[in-house]
Amino acid sequence: MMVIGPLMIEHRLIERMVNILDKELQRAGKNGIINPADLDSFVEFMRVYADKCHHGKEEGILFAELGRKDVSREHRKVILELVSDHIFGRSQVAKLVALNADYKAGDKGKLKEITEVFSGLAVFYTAHIRKEDKDFFIPVMRYFSPAEHQAMLKASNEFDSNMDLAKYQEMVLSMEKALK
Ligand SMILES: [Fe+2]
Ligand SMILES: [Fe+2]
Repeated sequence: MMVIGPLMIEHRLIERMVNILDKELQRAGKNGIINPADLDSFVEFMRVYADKCHHGKEEGILFAELGRKDVSREHRKVILELVSDHIFGRSQVAKLVALNADYKAGDKGKLKEITEVFSGLAVFYTAHIRKEDKDFFIPVMRYFSPAEHQAMLKASNEFDSNMDLAKYQEMVLSMEKALK
């Protein structure tokens, strides 16, 4: 197994969470109501699971190790793009936090803006995941020796052992159930 194994598995959970919010906001478009607690859960998931844990490993392990390699100009460009995608994603999540605070304070008109910001983030982040899965993770694996692959996987497992990943799997499962 290589470090991109757990990273790709994490992509699948992130996609499921994005899907949940997407369905909820579609529903809200019809009845005008969103549960602000679900938006809070989404924000926590994106900040802790997607950003701290997932981006943490991408940037802190994979991109960092690629930084020590003589990678192609194209791959170097993609790494910069991916890191700036992470920054943009963070800024959109922060926007959702502010909008949700207004919504909770009684400004129901913010629902439209929440939906717009979320939709933008969903499209953008789905494309980010596709970029990594289809065009980046596999081609850059060739820069590493078997021992280096092993070391990165070990670092990834150690990183995860400090995180409560089960909490986020349960969060997604229970929100999926509640949607039905
Ligand atoms: Fe990423
Ligand atoms: Fe990723």
